Amino acid sequence: MKTTSIILAAGQGTRMKSELPKVLHSVCGKPMLWHALQAAQSVTDETPVMIIGHGANQVRAVVGDAARFVVQAERLGTGHAVQQAESTLKGNTDLVLVSSADMPLLTSETFNEMIRLQKENDGPMTMLTIISDDPRGFGRIIRMEDGNVQAIVEEPQATIEQMAIKELNVGAYCFDAKWLWDALERIPLSPKGEYYLTDTVGLAVEAGMKVQSLTLEDPVEAVGVNTRIHLSEAEAGMRLRVNRLHMLKGVTMIDPQSVHIGMDVEIGQDTVIHPNTYLRGETKIGAGCEIGPNTIITDCTIGDRCEILSSVLEKARLEDDVDMGPFARLRKGAHLAKGVHMGNFGEVKDSYLGENAKMGHFSYIGNATIGTETNIGAGTITCNYDGENKHLTEIGKEVFIGSDTMLVAPLKIGDRARTGAGSVVTKDVKDDTLVVGMPARAIRKFK
Ligand code: UD1
Ligand code: CA
Repeated sequence: MKTTSIILAAGQGTRMKSELPKVLHSVCGKPMLWHALQAAQSVTDETPVMIIGHGANQVRAVVGDAARFVVQAERLGTGHAVQQAESTLKGNTDLVLVSSADMPLLTSETFNEMIRLQKENDGPMTMLTIISDDPRGFGRIIRMEDGNVQAIVEEPQATIEQMAIKELNVGAYCFDAKWLWDALERIPLSPKGEYYLTDTVGLAVEAGMKVQSLTLEDPVEAVGVNTRIHLSEAEAGMRLRVNRLHMLKGVTMIDPQSVHIGMDVEIGQDTVIHPNTYLRGETKIGAGCEIGPNTIITDCTIGDRCEILSSVLEKARLEDDVDMGPFARLRKGAHLAKGVHMGNFGEVKDSYLGENAKMGHFSYIGNATIGTETNIGAGTITCNYDGENKHLTEIGKEVFIGSDTMLVAPLKIGDRARTGAGSVVTKDVKDDTLVVGMPARAIRKFK
């Protein structure tokens, strides 16, 4: 039996008050619809069909070939939206799983359970409900005396008694495809001038068929995003879900509420993540590290037993046993070898620091390679930019760069060389040599 997913993403999301289509707003670093796609993809057989309309081009550009797109030119309701997929799917699938791109917390486990229920029963559809004291404008589930679902009543059409019903429609369904396409033709026009997908329930019951339902246990799954308040709830729900998974795999979090971890991040066992820490993008962290507090790491690879305190790292690589911070900054192309120590107010960009190199205080190292066991004194700067081009600085091993040295690139400093405090080095230095002094003097007039 073949199952295909339809994801509804055509709505405008007016209440977000945003230039950006609602479904592209981020939840834990990924667009909201990415989460809906992931969950659907993993339980269905074919590439999901996404119904787009508002901001269609932007949505297409973000999703790429992870979905097949069908444009709903006029937004005439959820029933009408699903109908747009008929020409793509009719005859090509046995079951149709319908969900919305604005429900990023529904899990593949839930979808799987719905599909299983639908396969095991003869009814035309299985729907998802939640029992909640907060109705959130969701449709109310009307049940018959025998407990079976009779209808879904949308809030604007509900009577006062119906409004009090605590069982709500989550908005995810698994349909028998053959039945669905015919039923969509028979949906009546609602008083609001829309074709409601929810009316398929009433149609099935009128025809004497039984509608299956699955009730969610975890209310977080049913968070649907219509406003920025809901968006923050989705973010918080997803954040805790991600953090719990890491904790179950052996990562300690002092305060998981304040730890923000992207969907693609990997963290090794016995690493401790301190409060107010952001791990984003394609970041990989080894085992036994101490990260944070107050640290932002984006697209980095970090070895084992590293300690990073109050620092900002981007597109950098740290080998094992590196310790850095507080207030260190790594930019793209920074590579710190095993055992490097980097103290406060340092910045490294496009540079390699060899094993056990030390850079304790206030330094800028850019476009440089630094040998093993070399010490970079406080205030050292690689003057790598002449206003037009970047130049390289190569420093050998076991070098001692005195405090406040200016290294004017291009420049090579030999192994075990030393520079005196405050030197301005403009010429290459041979191995085992001490240089001192400041050669600054007028050499040219600018035109
Ligand atoms: C819908 C359900 C409601 C349920 C709620 C759960 C209907 C009529 N009502 O209400 O019972 O409790 O979801 O969140 O289905 N969309 C389109 N094209 C359209 C209209 C909507 O693609 O013409 C998409 C929207 O972008 C959204 C989804 O369908 O992703 C749901 O539409 P929305 O207008 O938000 O429906 P609700 O009023 O929330
Ligand atoms: Ca909605």
